[in-house]
Amino acid sequence: MRKIIVSPSLLSADFKCLKEEINRIEETKSEYLHFDVMDGHFVDNISFGLPVLKSIATCHHLVNDVHIMISDPLHYAKRFCDAGADVLTFHYEACKDENEIKEVIDIIHQNGVKAGLSIKPNTPIEVVYPFLKDLHLVLVMSVEPGFGGQTFMMNALDKIVKLRKYIDDHHLQTLIEVDGGINEQTAKLVKEAGVDILVAGSYIFGSDNYKEKVEALHK
Ligand code: DX5
Ligand code: ZN
Repeated sequence: MRKIIVSPSLLSADFKCLKEEINRIEETKSEYLHFDVMDGHFVDNISFGLPVLKSIATCHHLVNDVHIMISDPLHYAKRFCDAGADVLTFHYEACKDENEIKEVIDIIHQNGVKAGLSIKPNTPIEVVYPFLKDLHLVLVMSVEPGFGGQTFMMNALDKIVKLRKYIDDHHLQTLIEVDGGINEQTAKLVKEAGVDILVAGSYIFGSDNYKEKVEALHK
């Protein structure tokens, strides 16, 4: 039975009381804290960035699961490592070629951080295969990146099934993370497909019982 990790996305939290929100998440069975950085250029939204990460990165015991939906990750990778990322996940589509992807992964590793690579819904899963041995995780987007509260896109399931088979057939340790529209129903589908880490934002933060919602995702 594969171990499932829940990574609540702070994007859906109440920013008036971020510390209290993080404390409430720490009381749940979550192991990661998902931190969605948006630059208003790679995606059509702006969220938060380096100063916020720096201020919250050490105020909890969860893994800082940082998802940068930004252009030019090569330029910014080190700064997110320095600001407190434990896992730094950047987008395949934000890099100009495979060499640049390798360069970003190297910078992340040189700064003692684990590397993740994310693909958007319309990007085929096969593009991540050459990098898997150097990746802590692959983040399969099940919504178009940019906003919380969107509806799960079913085409993510086939990509997860294919990636699970490839990782298992090649005896790799890379984890599969899914992000977007995850709730009690879609969590069951992606766990059956072979996912390891569930990102959930509005399903958890839109509720009045975080503990209950995280338990439901583990079921
Ligand atoms: C979307 C972000 C997701 C989002 C998840 O671009 O990467 O992490 O916050 O929010 P929900 O779970 O509400 O879809
Ligand atoms: Zn995310």
